[in-house]
Amino acid sequence: MIPTSVKQIPSRDGRAEIGIRAMTSGDLPDAALLSKALGWPHRLEDWDFMLRQGHGLVATLENGAVIGTILWWPFGTRYATVGLVIVANAWQGHGIGRTLLATVRRLLPGYSLYLNATPAGQPLYEKLGFIPTGIVEQHQGNGVSAPIVPLEPGHRLRPVVQQDLQELAALDGAATGMDRARLIEDLVATAKGVVIDTGDGIVGYSFCRKFGWGWLIGPVAAATPIGARALIAHWIGTHGGEFLRVDIPAACGLSSWLDDMGLIRVDTVNTMSTDAMTPAPDGPCYYALTSQAIG
Ligand SMILES: CC(C)(COP(=O)(O)OP(=O)(O)OC[C@H]1O[C@@H](n2cnc3c(N)ncnc32)[C@H](O)[C@@H]1OP(=O)(O)O)[C@@H](O)C(=O)NCCC(=O)NCCS
Repeated sequence: MIPTSVKQIPSRDGRAEIGIRAMTSGDLPDAALLSKALGWPHRLEDWDFMLRQGHGLVATLENGAVIGTILWWPFGTRYATVGLVIVANAWQGHGIGRTLLATVRRLLPGYSLYLNATPAGQPLYEKLGFIPTGIVEQHQGNGVSAPIVPLEPGHRLRPVVQQDLQELAALDGAATGMDRARLIEDLVATAKGVVIDTGDGIVGYSFCRKFGWGWLIGPVAAATPIGARALIAHWIGTHGGEFLRVDIPAACGLSSWLDDMGLIRVDTVNTMSTDAMTPAPDGPCYYALTSQAIG
């Protein structure tokens, strides 16, 4: 599925030939330098997590230098997300971003693609047929308080355990409309997680893991807004005074509550898709992203 041979494309000024090939773990240090040059917070470990969940391409010069990246995550057979689309500053405007994205589209025939577009990326995505479908708000800061959010009687917050896996994957699937069982399995193994347990089953989950300059809360899915607040407040409480980030769909309505918790909205990006139809959630809502790139 992923091209392993180098595809040559001439740069527009004829100075160089640029190859496109599958990204390997050996490319991650170079990829991390590209995101660092943009002021993005991704550490090498964050790139490793992202590639582990999906696939990537790099654009390279003849001397092997990595000058562009793109990652994508197929979730089931109908939907995939795309992210970490980067072209080194000196090589922008040569058609490399377009080639990377067009290659991913060719690799995923029949898929609806989703991504969260920075203002820099949006013109490229519009040209390749993506349309805006929503807004994601980036909140971050040092949580100021550890609010107690009361749960419904009989419901309790408890740590995720391995035995929750199937139920979590089903809950996540209902909230996102995508089959992300493998991602959830990885999070259960490597991140900290809590669930809302009703005694009869799980009606919400949240994960928290190291990312960038501190900790990232997400993904979060819950049956009610109160449940989502409890699941997020738990991490604000357990990481008092530490840097926390959470990326939320604007439609979930948690933005001003997060501001009050000391996690200030610092940016917004547009969710865009090749398909006007978004996956139809069935029951629980998706309150926070795994990351801005993965969705
Ligand atoms: C977004 C980015 C990947 C585009 O890569 P690129 O190689 O410079 O883009 P391309 O040269 O392939 O341009 C593709 C098309 O988009 C258009 N385009 C790209 N950037 C544009 C801009 N800032 N304004 C208007 N049009 C733009 C180009 O005109 C081109 O159209 P054409 O093929 O019809 O001539 C690159 O600018 C980048 O890395 N930006 C910083 C990181 C970032 O924000 N990435 C997006 C993450 S969601």
